[in-house]
Amino acid sequence: MKAAVAVATDIPFLDLVAQHAPLKEEIVRLISETLDSAAFVGGAQVASFEKEFAGFVGAAHAVGVSNGTDALRLALHGMGIGHGDRVVTVPNTFIATTEAISQVGAKFDFVDVDADTCLMDPNRLESFLRDRFDKGPASQRPRAIVPVHLYGHCVDMDPIVGLAAKYELLVLEDAAQAHGARYKGRGAGTLGHAAAFSFYAAKNLGACGEAGAVTTANAALAEKIRILREHGQNVKYYHPLEGYNARLDAMQAGILRIKLRGLEQWNASRREIAAFYDSAFASIDSVRPVKVRAGNVSCYHLYVIHVPRRDALQVHLKAKGIGTGLHYPLPLHLQECYASLQYSAGDFPNAESSASTLLSLPMFPELGIERARRVVDAIASFRE
Ligand SMILES: Cc1ncc(COP(=O)(O)O)c(C=O)c1O
Repeated sequence: MKAAVAVATDIPFLDLVAQHAPLKEEIVRLISETLDSAAFVGGAQVASFEKEFAGFVGAAHAVGVSNGTDALRLALHGMGIGHGDRVVTVPNTFIATTEAISQVGAKFDFVDVDADTCLMDPNRLESFLRDRFDKGPASQRPRAIVPVHLYGHCVDMDPIVGLAAKYELLVLEDAAQAHGARYKGRGAGTLGHAAAFSFYAAKNLGACGEAGAVTTANAALAEKIRILREHGQNVKYYHPLEGYNARLDAMQAGILRIKLRGLEQWNASRREIAAFYDSAFASIDSVRPVKVRAGNVSCYHLYVIHVPRRDALQVHLKAKGIGTGLHYPLPLHLQECYASLQYSAGDFPNAESSASTLLSLPMFPELGIERARRVVDAIASFRE
C-alpha cells in the first residue's frame, strides 16, 4: 500500500496541495516553457536534474528513470542480476522491492527485520548467509542484498557492507523513502554499489506524476543504466542491449529541480515534528515509536509508532478527523501473489508482529507543531 495522498480530514495524513501552493507559479511556468520547447523526454532538464540530485545525495552519478520500481529493476539488471540468481531482502517493505527482483528473472529470499527498527537485521542476515554459504548448494547462494531504508531511516549498513565484501555480494539500497537520510555522516544512496530512489508524488521529493533515479559511484554502471532506460540503445536505433522504456520525462525533471531546492528545509521541518512526537510519546506508555539507531539522521518519510489495539486507535483517530496510514499491513511473504512460495505465518515473526501494531501518523513539512500536538492529544485520549 502506498502512502495515502491528501484526504479531506482536519489533519490529513499528507497534504501535497499545501506543499505545491508556494511553488505553483514556478511549476506552471515550467510546464508552459516545456510545451513551448516540445522537449518532453530527456534533454537538458533531465541532465541538470541528474547532476543536482547526485550532488544532493553525495553520489558520483544519478540516472533519472521513470519511477522507483524501474530504478530497482534497471539497477539489478545493470549489475548483472538475472535468471538463476538469488537476492536477499526483507518482508517489511513495499512490494516494488520484490517485484523488481522477480521481474529481472531472479528469486528473492527474506531475512526478518529487527523488532525495534523494523529494518533489515544484520545479525539475521549474517546467520542466513553463513547457512547458505557453509551448508547449502551453490544454487541457493545469493548474489546481492537489497536493504530497504524504510520510513527514511537508514539500515545499519556497515555490517551489511562488511558481509557483502566477505561473501562477494552486490548491495543495492532501496532508498525509495530515504531522500536526504544520512548514516554515519554519509548519504543514503552512497552506501552500497547502487541505490534506487522513487519520486512518487508522496515521497519527500515527489514529482507531479512518476519518476525515479539510480545513484552509484560506478561510471560504467551508470552508463549501462542510461542505455537500459532507453531501449538498450546507445545510438538511435542501434541496440547493444535489450532494454526498457524507462526514461524520465523532462517536465517531471524540471519540477523535481524546483522542488529539490526546498528538500533540505522540508526534511528539517519533518525532523522537528519527529522530535516533538518523540518527546510527547516518551510519557505515553502504550506508544513505542519505531527506533532510529544512533548514527542515523532520518529524513522521516514516515513517522511510525507501535501501539497495541492499533486498528481501534486508527478508527478513533479517524473519528477525530486525523488521517493515518499502515506501512505495511501484510508482510510480503504472506501476500497472496507469493502463495506458491509456501511461506507460513511465523516465518518472520518481527515483520509479522510489526504489521499488526504499526501505525503511521501525519508527517509532512507543513504539518506544524500545533497540529502534531493535536495528534498526540487524540492518541492520549484513546481509551477503548
Ligand atoms: C520502499 C519502496 N521501494 C520501492 C518503491 C517503488 O517506487 P515507485 O512507486 O516510484 O515505483 C517504493 C514506492 O512506493 C517504496 O516505498
